[in-house]
Amino acid sequence: MAETLNIPLTEDRAEKYKAILPQIQALVSAETDTIANLANITAVLKETFGFFWVGFYIVRQDMLVLGPFQGTLACTRIPFHKGVCGACYTERKTMLVPDVEQFQGHIACSSASKSEIVVPIFDRGRQGVCMVLDIDSDVLADFSEIDQHYLEQLAEMITETFDNSDEL
Ligand code: SME
Repeated sequence: MAETLNIPLTEDRAEKYKAILPQIQALVSAETDTIANLANITAVLKETFGFFWVGFYIVRQDMLVLGPFQGTLACTRIPFHKGVCGACYTERKTMLVPDVEQFQGHIACSSASKSEIVVPIFDRGRQGVCMVLDIDSDVLADFSEIDQHYLEQLAEMITETFDNSDEL
């Protein structure tokens, strides 16, 4: 398993995503444990981009429950109809929020968080969302369609790699 991450010396976010996605693929292919893989994915994203908070919320019965993450203390349970994460879950699509204060119902785990992107991850049979990837930035409007594009590729990789139905 590769234990060091090769991050290109560029500020170009697309270039960084292009460099890390194959490395994430290699990492998760070498390990079968889902939680271990999700944990390393948050570490890679945090180390590469320096985002304020990166983590997964996992679907459990009737709520989203905090999974592996990197960053400050976070709320542990989010009802399906609450917050940006809940909207991502119920609408089954990526939520790109340039200013969290303008998003009605946003759950502020930290006042430092200014913008946010939440990407749905579907179960292998694509029947529903089994978790969401939530990334917060302390910079306003920090996320764009570029992040959405590559993070959705990452979400697809997670769907393909894990048998979400029985492992989580
Ligand atoms: N802001 C999220 C809650 C999770 S924290 O950002 C880590 C939301 O509104 O769903």
